Amino acid sequence: MRGILLAGGSGTRLLPLTTINSKQLLPVYDKPLVYYPLSVLMLAGMREILVITNSLHIESFRSLLGDGSHLGLDLQYAVQDEPRGIAESLLIGREFAGDEDVCLILGDNIFYGQGLPAALHNAAETVDGCTVFGYPVSDPERFGVAVLDGDGELVDIVEKPTAPPSNIAVTGLYMYSNDALGYAEKISPSARGELEISDVNRLLVQEGRGRIVQLGRGNAWLDAGTHDSLLEASQYVQVLQKRQGMQIACLEETAFRMGYIGMDQLSELADRLSTGSMYGRHVRSLVEA
Ligand code: G1P
Repeated sequence: MRGILLAGGSGTRLLPLTTINSKQLLPVYDKPLVYYPLSVLMLAGMREILVITNSLHIESFRSLLGDGSHLGLDLQYAVQDEPRGIAESLLIGREFAGDEDVCLILGDNIFYGQGLPAALHNAAETVDGCTVFGYPVSDPERFGVAVLDGDGELVDIVEKPTAPPSNIAVTGLYMYSNDALGYAEKISPSARGELEISDVNRLLVQEGRGRIVQLGRGNAWLDAGTHDSLLEASQYVQVLQKRQGMQIACLEETAFRMGYIGMDQLSELADRLSTGSMYGRHVRSLVEA
């Protein structure tokens, strides 16, 4: 399975923060937002990842993440010039995917939880059509919302409903079997002028090829698409990291623990990071431990 990380969009809900900055490069506590979804793809076992961003910010992403080889990854880049919607990323990423299945993650989504890697591994093994990940929220009207039958099976998805049919939001993490990528060609732009990922998923659900994995208690899902949610995400990361003395979404650590890099490389990465930051000290402490 190959990963697609969508870091496009114009970030209008975060203006003026996003006047010159990419939303996904804004800080969430002590690291750029994009580190969080990238670490999720890495934890799910993906090493070949396509980063999609707009032409204005692509060089900043390249400066930050490079070709990924220092982390044992193969990072490629593609441009989405206009905010034409999340579903367009499936078309942009089609060539990159080749014959492989795809895991798509939105660059402003933060997932955290011990059970997450296992849930992702299981889902990746069985994907046929699409697999979406549901999470209970108190404000479902802000998201794509899952409609479930009595057995908890996914029967429909409604994008930002005024009267939500459930409290289960469809998070910004999706898996597609290779043949499903072309479904993005079958849909038309929505009222907001975008190719909606929910429309692709609905088509697959209608064909009986869409399933939902519920990320229940014990997992955290945060989005950072508004000023409040961006601040709350920072506060969440700060509280957990300070309390437990560990790091969330430390890419160097993830690469090492996943076996993508060895101790020599980790040590080299630690040398590059200043121990003046908590993040740098953490990577150094891994080497010393
Ligand atoms: C998008 C999707 C929505 C999903 C959300 C997750 O919303 O359209 O279905 O629940 O991401 O973050 P957007 O951020 O485009 O409003």
